[in-house]
Amino acid sequence: SSKQAVRIVEVGPRDGLQNEKQSVPTDVKLELIARLADAGLRDIEATAFVSPKWVPQMADHADLMRRLPRRAGVGYPVLVPNLKGLEAAIESGASEVAVFAAASEAFSQKNINCSVAESLVRFEPVMAAARAAHVKVRGYVSCVVACPYEGPVAPQRVADVAARLHAMGCYEVSLGDTIGVGTPATVRAMLQAVASRVPVSQLAGHYHDTWGMAVANVAASYDLGVRVFDASVSGLGGCPYAKGASGNVATEDVVYLLHGLGADTGVDLGRLVDTSAWISGVLGREVGSKVARALRAA
Ligand code: HMG
Ligand code: MG
Repeated sequence: SSKQAVRIVEVGPRDGLQNEKQSVPTDVKLELIARLADAGLRDIEATAFVSPKWVPQMADHADLMRRLPRRAGVGYPVLVPNLKGLEAAIESGASEVAVFAAASEAFSQKNINCSVAESLVRFEPVMAAARAAHVKVRGYVSCVVACPYEGPVAPQRVADVAARLHAMGCYEVSLGDTIGVGTPATVRAMLQAVASRVPVSQLAGHYHDTWGMAVANVAASYDLGVRVFDASVSGLGGCPYAKGASGNVATEDVVYLLHGLGADTGVDLGRLVDTSAWISGVLGREVGSKVARALRAA
C-alpha cells in the first residue's frame, strides 16, 4: 500500500519508569515490556545502564536485560552514559544502545555531571567499542527547545550537537523536548535547523507533554517528514533531572494521530490501550492518555 510507515520507539519502561517514586518490581517491568511487544511495538527502550545512585529505579538493569522476552523483530535499546554503562549493557545481552547529550550546558551538568563538550568526548570510545561489538547506537539531544535552568535554546545549538552525534556514528538522533514547552512553531524552527545538518530520515521526535503540546508537535514534525517518534504508554514518566517535567507523549495518542493521518505504525491500538489500563492500575493512577480514556468509555 501507499501508507507511510512510522516507527514508534516505546520509551515507557525507561523514560516512563525512571522517575517513578514507588519501587517497580522487575517482574512488573518485564510484563509491561511483553505486553507492549504483544501490542505490536518493535522498538522498546528497556532500561538504562546509568549509575544506580543517580537513578535508583533503573538499578535492576542487568537482571531485567537477562530476563527479557527475546522475540524476532523486537529490539530493546538501553541508555548508556559512558563506557562503563556500555560494557555492562553488552555483558547483559544488549545489542542496541543510546548515548545522551544535551543542547544546554546547565542540563548536561545536572544530568550527566559534565559539560556538553566533555560528554561528546566521552562518547567517542563508547562509539568505537559499540562498533567493534556490532552494537547499534542511537543518540539523544535533550533540551531541544528549552532548558529548565537556562531557558530557550537556539535551534543552531541543537543542530550542532545533533550533527556531532550523527558524525560520530549514531544511526539516528532523537530530539528531546525534555520539559515539553515546545509548540509547533518552535519545534518546526528547531527541526529545520537540524534537518539542514542531519538527514530528516535519521531524526526522531521525543516530545514530553508537560504543556499539552506533544501531540501537536508530533503532527508538525510528521508534516516536515519525521517518521520516527518516541512515546510512552499512558504518558508515563518525566526526567529526574528536569524538575516539573511530565511524561512523554502517550503512545496511544501518537498511534491514534498517525493512523488518522493515514500512516502505518504496526501497533494494535486496542491491545495498547489494554496495556495502558493495566500499567496504570498497577501503579495506582489514572490512565494518562485521552485516547485510552475515550476508547475505554466507548
Ligand atoms: P559521575 O558521578 O560523574 O561518575 O556520574 P563517575 O564516572 O565519577 O563515577 C562515580 C561512580 O558512579 C563510580 O562508583 C562509578 O563506578 C559509578 P563508585 O566508585 O562511587 O562506587 N558509575 C556507574 N555505575 C553504573 N553505571 C554506569 C556508571 N558510570 C559510573 N554507567 C554518570 C556520571 C553519567 C554516571 C551519572 O551522572 C549518571 O548515571 N547519570 C544518568 C542520569 C540519567 O539517567 N538521566 C535520565 C536519562 S536522560 C533523559 O531522561 C532524557 C531523554 O529522555 C531525552 C529527553 O527527554 O530530553 C533521554
Ligand atoms: Mg525523555
